[in-house]
Amino acid sequence: MKLVIYRYDPDHDTRPREQVYAIDPDTAGPMLLDALVWIHEHLDSSLAFRRSCREGVCGSDAMNVNGRNRLACITPLVELDRRVVLRPLPGMPVIRDLIVDLQGFIGHYRDQQPWLQPAQLPEAEQLQSPAQREVLGDAGDCMLCGCCTSACPTAWWHPDTFAGPAALLAGWRFVADSRDAAGEARLQRMAADGSAYQCHGVMNCAAVCPRGLNPAAAIVALKRRMA
Ligand code: FES
Repeated sequence: MKLVIYRYDPDHDTRPREQVYAIDPDTAGPMLLDALVWIHEHLDSSLAFRRSCREGVCGSDAMNVNGRNRLACITPLVELDRRVVLRPLPGMPVIRDLIVDLQGFIGHYRDQQPWLQPAQLPEAEQLQSPAQREVLGDAGDCMLCGCCTSACPTAWWHPDTFAGPAALLAGWRFVADSRDAAGEARLQRMAADGSAYQCHGVMNCAAVCPRGLNPAAAIVALKRRMA
């Protein structure tokens, strides 16, 4: 297989370039992340990429694989063409090679105040009924890999003013939580921010989420609550 990898080191390069690495998938695999680690160990230790858990939990190795945002650690080489083009997540500033700057992305998430805000500190465990839990769905399963926001055209054009699907999904997760008492304030902040109304339902977010989450549906639910 040939891996065509976006290379850019701002300390040495005036502009990005592509570098081609030939690998034997039987030796370097089975996953795409394994191949990157193999290249780093055997061919080129200057190649930069993030990874941690290596099992689809932490979200740190999100990258663009043949035009689609994915996690390298859960992408089997056998699913890919013999020529694989790897780029950093689109629409985010590149720090080096496949590593992007997530400061803006995390900032939008932080703006959602992503923690439970009960009316008063509970003295015992706060239980939910099955029906209350049902409203939350899987919205809390987001691992903040950035695949969705980086695939969203509105986030490309308005990175500063559009919170993006991951942040809005987090906002919905707390608005929908029966134990949270700050829902009204959250919705007012979101209405003033206007991000939910910048979503045009392109659905790229749902198409690329490695966990199969649907941020676009959460944004629709937020709009309903705001209305
Ligand atoms: Fe943690 Fe891939 S390394 S999700």
